[in-house]
Parts: sequence; structure tokens; C-alpha cells
Amino acid sequence: MSKLAIIGGTGLADLSNLKITNKQMVHTPFGAASAPLITGELCSESVVFIARHGHGHTIPPHKINYQANIWALKSLGVEQIIAVAAVGGITEKMSPGAVVIPHQLIDYTYGREHTFFSDDFNPEQHIDFTEPYNERLREALIMSKQAVDFELLESAVYAATQGPRLETAAEISKLEKDGCDIVGMTGMPEAALARELEMEYASCAVVANWAAGKSKNVITMQEIEKNLIDGMKNVRELLEKTLPQVL
Ligand code: HPA
Repeated sequence: MSKLAIIGGTGLADLSNLKITNKQMVHTPFGAASAPLITGELCSESVVFIARHGHGHTIPPHKINYQANIWALKSLGVEQIIAVAAVGGITEKMSPGAVVIPHQLIDYTYGREHTFFSDDFNPEQHIDFTEPYNERLREALIMSKQAVDFELLESAVYAATQGPRLETAAEISKLEKDGCDIVGMTGMPEAALARELEMEYASCAVVANWAAGKSKNVITMQEIEKNLIDGMKNVRELLEKTLPQVL
């Protein structure tokens, strides 16, 4: 049976409805994963969960050991990943609270360990990344929309920024001109590393705030946390409906 992992981000530090059967800290050739890998049952399906920012959200986006996290999941036999993330909304439809399944991304991060293929490189290791998200997983998430009672946005271009600071209004304006709809700090290199290890990867994003310059208000953590409470409740529901379709 194919194994699926959920990577939890800001606002999703655990899966409250997961019946935990095992917790293990995994050490990899790249170092330790962000947090113990938690194996359990969700709606009778076996899944693995990892909190990307560590326990207590202590690891900022640019310091996450993405290589270790992805390698650790692979070492447990995981073949599919649904990555949950908080994002800022740039374009009109991406309003706070919305749940979005991105279909494309642009990587603006720098200085992160972004590949497993640095040593003994061979030409086969130029992975195809035309479609960065796995379409089958995306479709499954989108199909589950019929079984939930909140609006799900089926496509968006995700901008991966460096963080941990939020962007300037001019930076967001540039991202919008580039064609980006949402902005987050953790989508890359996570998606590319999963592709390098031939794991299927899709993302489920919750809009936590209007991105810089897109509303008159100062962006506050209180606003972000408030929007994430409802958004992540919806994500949990969506995951429960989706898992039986993909496993
Ligand atoms: N920018 C980048 N990352 C984010 C934001 C944002 O506005 N909101 C939540 N994650």
C-alpha cells in the first residue's frame, strides 16, 4: 500500500484526529528532521505527520532542514506528500481564510540547501520540474471539494520567498507582475527535493493575511493566527475526505 505523509506548517503543528501508533526521531545523512515523525491512523488510513517548523514552531523557514525532512519521510517508505502551508494572498480571489491548491510556483529563495544532487552529479539528475505539483494528488484534493462546505480555490501560482520577515509592498507588487497569486516561505526547496526523490507532492495552502500593501492594515500575528484557526479546521476536513481517494 502506498504511504502518504502530511507536512504541517504554521497553524498545523499536529493532527488532532490522528490515532498515533509510533513516534520516531529520524537522523539522516543531512542531519535530523525538524521533529519526530509521527505515524498513525487518520480515517482508517495510515499516514505519517511531521511538523515542518519543529515542536513549538522554533525553526524559521530559512533554517528548516528540508533535505533531512524529505529524506526522513522517504526512509519510512513515504511515496506521497501533502504539504500544508500558510500563505499571504496577493491577487483578488486569494482572500484571508481561503484554502488554495497551487498549480505552479516561482522560487525566490536563496542560500538554502536545495538539492540532493551536489556530489557525483550526472545529467539524469536534472529533474523535470515543469509541473512542480503532482496532478493526481492535486485532483484528489480538488475533487474532495464536493464533500466539504467551504470554498476551495483550484489553482494559484505560489511565490516562495526567503523570510522570516514579510515582504515589502514593492516586492509584492513585483511578485504580482511575475504572475504570483500567493506568497509563502516554505514551499521551496521542499517541492523540488520531493521530486528529486521521486515522491509525489502537492500543497494545500491557507491564506492567513493579505500580502504586504494589499490592504491598509498592518499585518499582525494575531490576524494571521485568527485566520489560520478556521482555515486549518477546513484543511483537516479536506484531508480526511482526500486520504481515502489517494491511498
Ligand atoms: N508572506 C510570506 N509568507 C507568509 C505570509 C506572507 O504575507 N503570510 C503567511 N505566510
